[in-house]
Amino acid sequence: MFIIEAQKVCKIFNKREEITAIENFSLKVRENEFVSIIGPSGCGKSTFLLLAAGLESITSGQIFINGSKINGPDPKRAIVFQEYLLFPWKTVRKNVEFGPLVRKVMKAERRKISDKYIKMVGLEGFEDRYPHELSGGMKQRVAIARALANEPEVLFMDEPFGSLDSLTREMLQSELLQIWTEAKCTVIFVTHSISEAVYLSDRVVVMSRRPGRIIADIRINLKRPRLREMLSTPEFSEYERKIREFVWAQV
Ligand SMILES: Nc1ncnc2c1ncn2[C@@H]1O[C@H](COP(=O)(O)OP(=O)(O)OP(=O)(O)O)[C@@H](O)[C@H]1O
Ligand SMILES: [Mg+2]
Repeated sequence: MFIIEAQKVCKIFNKREEITAIENFSLKVRENEFVSIIGPSGCGKSTFLLLAAGLESITSGQIFINGSKINGPDPKRAIVFQEYLLFPWKTVRKNVEFGPLVRKVMKAERRKISDKYIKMVGLEGFEDRYPHELSGGMKQRVAIARALANEPEVLFMDEPFGSLDSLTREMLQSELLQIWTEAKCTVIFVTHSISEAVYLSDRVVVMSRRPGRIIADIRINLKRPRLREMLSTPEFSEYERKIREFVWAQV
């Protein structure tokens, strides 16, 4: 059983001119898998996430989540973007409780949920702070907690660590793996970093230039839990080399 099944998806944007963003895009993802998508800029990675999250309409083909064809957004599918997109006028706690509030979860239960996920992302003590009082890494942690507060089946992440410094990025990668283990959800992770993709994923899929489709699907057989020391092993480098070859063939 696949939690995500995209079949020959095509998306044509029709603004000033017609742009085919993705074409013949097929992907199957199993429950609790961690899959990264990598590919040249403008190849349609974000477009696929928006389609799968139900935030953009599909031109042709179909996407099934848990066996049902998607039509529109659903709290069971959460998305974290590169820009933090927090509500600046809400505290950390209120940001995290936003999804449950919309779902009409009662106050005491909302509080339990926000306590759980704020703790999971390591932001205890910052519940009453506002986004402008937080660092970039902390804001992205809030964005992750806010996404998880809906207890999604699928978490889509679009270059979530792209604008962070490299040390914070490394820390958040390891934390994300921990969170993914605890929260038990399926993750689709878009990145431009080959090593990030190898370190995090069960599978790395490489997309072609626009119109994007999948040209390689590489299983990462490194054992878990993943340790940072793995980055300097020959096996790790071999995965990077293989993926780099596919990526460079497209740019
Ligand atoms: N709302 C839109 N209207 C018109 N064209 C769009 C829209 N969104 C994306 N596109 C076009 O679709 C193509 C794919 O865009 P997309 O944002 O999915 O690429 P990407 O792979 O995420 O790139 P990057 O790595 O730079 O984030 C691009 O040519 C882009 O200009
Ligand atoms: Mg993008």
